[in-house]
Amino acid sequence: MQIQPCGPLRGEITVPGDKSISHRAIMLGALANGTTHITGFLMGDDCLSTIDCFRKMGVQIEITDNEVIVEGVGLHGLCEPEETLYTGNSGTTTRLLCGILAGQPFTATLNGDASIQKRPMGRIIKPLREMGASIEGKNDNYCPLTLYPSELHGIEYRLPVASAQLKSAILLAGLYAEGQTTVIEPAPSRDHTERMFRALGVEIETEGNVITLDPPEDLHAVDIAVPGDISSAAFFLVAGAIVPGSELTIKNVGVNQTRTGILDVLRDMGADITESNFRDDAEPVCDLTVRYSHLHGVEIGGSIIPRLIDELPVIAVAAAFAEGETVIRDAQELKVKESNRIAAMVTELSRAGVDVEETDDGMIIRGGKTPCGASFQTYKDHRIAMSLAVLALAAQTTSRINDPEVVSISYPDFFDTLKALGG
Ligand code: S3P
Repeated sequence: MQIQPCGPLRGEITVPGDKSISHRAIMLGALANGTTHITGFLMGDDCLSTIDCFRKMGVQIEITDNEVIVEGVGLHGLCEPEETLYTGNSGTTTRLLCGILAGQPFTATLNGDASIQKRPMGRIIKPLREMGASIEGKNDNYCPLTLYPSELHGIEYRLPVASAQLKSAILLAGLYAEGQTTVIEPAPSRDHTERMFRALGVEIETEGNVITLDPPEDLHAVDIAVPGDISSAAFFLVAGAIVPGSELTIKNVGVNQTRTGILDVLRDMGADITESNFRDDAEPVCDLTVRYSHLHGVEIGGSIIPRLIDELPVIAVAAAFAEGETVIRDAQELKVKESNRIAAMVTELSRAGVDVEETDDGMIIRGGKTPCGASFQTYKDHRIAMSLAVLALAAQTTSRINDPEVVSISYPDFFDTLKALGG
């Protein structure tokens, strides 16, 4: 796909539903008593993988034009799947599902695509085994993973990394454990699982970085409205900030505090972003307006990292256009995402003539000189593809993106929306 440098981006858009919340809505809807109507569900490949896995365990899930309807089977109503549960490219499906499967009275095997087979699973195998789970993985760290029936008991577990996937896997296993389950996070990660548990009547307490769950008798189905994904809005926030003359509004974006690190960082860089129409239901939501501004470099590290982990590739693009040095540190986790996102961004930014240096836990970008266009690799990673597309909009010359179709993982209409804004 070719992308030309463009004039101002203007208009009003919505972005697809939040990926993390969409996964959880299917999973908890399946385990609840009663019917769950989900609006705003993300019809991306990752969330469709979650639907597929639950259908294979006997859950009826209907997809209509404007909602997804899950017929809950209750905590103990899943059936043994006849084949391997295929999780595609989705780390969230793989890890959260392990937590649920650990507590089932049947055997199930999980596997995903080439990227999933390289992602570390030892981090979930360890706590689940401590809870009594019987789980096998390739070299004790990789998919395919097989979980056998076992009795679980609650544990207190200190997470070695601030990972919502790991936290959620343990809490989901905690639904089936005898006694309380406590997770202690090194820094707060996204709390969508905890919020949805509360909405479904589960007793779960958060005090600072300590989360404690009491196993419930059952979950009560509630309807779920999924807000727009701030991780998808991020591409337009950066595009609006770096393409001269732009002004655009993204409506109905989820602005849960555990996800809004991108807003803090872009504002620190000098971006003009305003919030309007704020409302708070199970998740806080508002409209975001961004206007072009001169950006400057910043330092990004510490406890903000889990609040913007998926946005770091596109933040690196903003940094390439920002005057001065941007240092990203404490972001080792980026190496074990859908691709090694540190290596990917350093290589691709260099291709565009950006002064960028890889470090052990992040990168240093010396920005301010308009990048040139280039022929970019995506590493089959949706967020790398969209980040480079944003760079291409404000580059000096035409760019090419290989494998643009990978955006279907989280944002199937990304390029159409970009075009509608004038990209
Ligand atoms: C997710 C958590 C994050 C994020 C991923 C989605 C989730 O991973 O990178 O895209 O839905 O829980 P970690 O929390 O494991 O870093």
